Amino acid sequence: MKIKALFPALKHSEQVYLDSASSCQLPEEVIKAMSRYLSQGHGNPHRGMYSFSEMAEELLSKTRTQLSSRFGGSPAQYIFTSGTTESINLVANHFQGLANSNHSILVTQLEHHANLLPWMRLAKTTGAKLNILPLKTDGAPDLEKLDTYLSQNCLLFAVSHESNLTGLKLPLNNMIQRARDYGVSTLVDGAQAVSGSKPQFTELDCDFYAFSGHKLYSPAGIGALYCREPEKLTPLKLGGGIVNRVQADLTNSNYQLVEDISRFEAGSPNMPGIAGLSACLSFLARINLEEEVCRQKQLIQKALSHTRSLGFTVISDPESHHILSFTSNQFHSHDIASILASENISVRAGHHCAQPYLKALGHKHCVRVSLGLYNDEEDISRLQHGLSQVISILG
Ligand SMILES: Cc1ncc(COP(=O)(O)O)c(C=O)c1O
Repeated sequence: MKIKALFPALKHSEQVYLDSASSCQLPEEVIKAMSRYLSQGHGNPHRGMYSFSEMAEELLSKTRTQLSSRFGGSPAQYIFTSGTTESINLVANHFQGLANSNHSILVTQLEHHANLLPWMRLAKTTGAKLNILPLKTDGAPDLEKLDTYLSQNCLLFAVSHESNLTGLKLPLNNMIQRARDYGVSTLVDGAQAVSGSKPQFTELDCDFYAFSGHKLYSPAGIGALYCREPEKLTPLKLGGGIVNRVQADLTNSNYQLVEDISRFEAGSPNMPGIAGLSACLSFLARINLEEEVCRQKQLIQKALSHTRSLGFTVISDPESHHILSFTSNQFHSHDIASILASENISVRAGHHCAQPYLKALGHKHCVRVSLGLYNDEEDISRLQHGLSQVISILG
């Protein structure tokens, strides 16, 4: 059976969905698992003494175990968050308490704004210097300059595993090892990398790895942060569900947090999201990812040659298996995307929340086509036809 048939939003649809780098469609079994969770009885986990609550508690712990089976480490190293953005902000809040004007933080020039703005704010409020690893003329980060920045009393190196704009994958093993040699902590923004690979976080040896469920065929609003040493991390949120004891009186205001990983998850968790993520991790465990990546790469290569043959400038990494970004010196990206939308082809146009990177590449906007498990030859033919329409309407 074709994988597309497993995704209700696409199986009988006219829609050609080519925006999975932004957010993925959900497999039927994930949607059903969420619905089942809600119809069987939703309960808030943590110490509820009735079955709905106990079932929610079990689901939380099962999902942590599934994450550790897929990406390594122990379940106790995974914090549930609302996604990559919250995961990065959690880490930024921790470093906010450590940084001062003697320190520096390092990012690369190809970061998504989610891995840039928290560090810009930290630099502004603590006086720490924000260093940006520049790009070389070929668009890749200049690794020769890495040691220079790492040696500048650098507290943290925050780096994307894969660019959402060009699909360029960074040589993380080498970069993280070099950071470790300087005693610099590392945070990986893995939002784009987890759908096409199964990075093993303990082998990467990063301190933190952030990712989102909705870029992994799960619902939006759920994601995780892998943390190498969670006992050293400061919780971002404080509140219910995470305390052993609270004293609040005039003479002795104090609280003691629980010791397990749930101390980072104050408040009521997104249980329908967790149910979806759990079902999705089971779904993905049955997919042959290497085969899929290969198949998607062939599709993207086909789209890429057609795009080039029509005179568009391709700016994505030719090795990317799922991202094709291009510009036109004649037409605005939004016009291209609107014409494609009128043909029921969904692509994204604009700055893709990576303005510094796009600027460094010499552009203000571009069109991005991105594939998921469900895309097939027919989608690429429809895209090719759509792009030819763009030329005939605007040209
Ligand atoms: C590379 C990268 N980092 C971070 C994010 C933010 O992810 P989220 O909106 O799920 O928090 C995105 C989303 O597009 C992304 O592509």
